[in-house]
Amino acid sequence: QRYNFKQRFNIQTSYFTGLMQKSVIFPTKTATSFVKLNAADFSDLTAFTVCLRAASEENHDYALFSYATKKSHNELLIWQKSNAQLDLYLGSVITGFSLPKMDAWLRHICMSWESQNGEITAWVNGRRSLTNVSSKGGVVKNGGQFILGQEQDTVGGKFDIEQSFVGEITDVNMWDRALKPYEIKFISQGCYNIGGNLIDCGSTIFTTEGNVIIKDNNDCTL
Ligand SMILES: *[C@@H]1O[C@H](CO)[C@@H](O)[C@H](O)[C@H]1NC(C)=O
Repeated sequence: QRYNFKQRFNIQTSYFTGLMQKSVIFPTKTATSFVKLNAADFSDLTAFTVCLRAASEENHDYALFSYATKKSHNELLIWQKSNAQLDLYLGSVITGFSLPKMDAWLRHICMSWESQNGEITAWVNGRRSLTNVSSKGGVVKNGGQFILGQEQDTVGGKFDIEQSFVGEITDVNMWDRALKPYEIKFISQGCYNIGGNLIDCGSTIFTTEGNVIIKDNNDCTL
């Protein structure tokens, strides 16, 4: 019997339309497990907010959210460092925030940026960081690939096991604007059914590949 590559390595692909009240679990370090997000089409961005809920007990650096274009594999990367710093990469420009170390508690994390003043803000559980100023006048280019669980060194690939995410992610949303503080506070409390206009955890198509578990989290079920 002949097997194709995916059968041989037991790589499973599954599709989900929306992951409302579902968690994505990456149980082990791999270079083959990931989730692709089919974001809505957009023109080059001059602002965004990315929000997600995540928990991890790993002690290596890993990607929480990776967006790669052909020209720039770190076009938009949210990067958690083992020393607790949370970095936002906008191409080659890195802005770091010193925040409490990741742990087993699911925390709501957002990063927002707007080009006009170059303001970057990190949010944890609705609480705002100081605002850093970076990438003023820049854009985030369209036409790239969004991936959870891995850091892309090429569009959709070249993953490094040592940079893979282990833990749980849910409530991934992305907007093409910097949300207001009160909006983030509200969303961080969960269960309000407000999705992003670029990535909407309720309707975006999520493709999982490899050892990825999708589980009802019942966070909002009475
Ligand atoms: C902004 O980020 C850079 C890079 O991480 C850092 O060196 C700088 O201290 C930060 N500025 C503020 C005001 O936090």
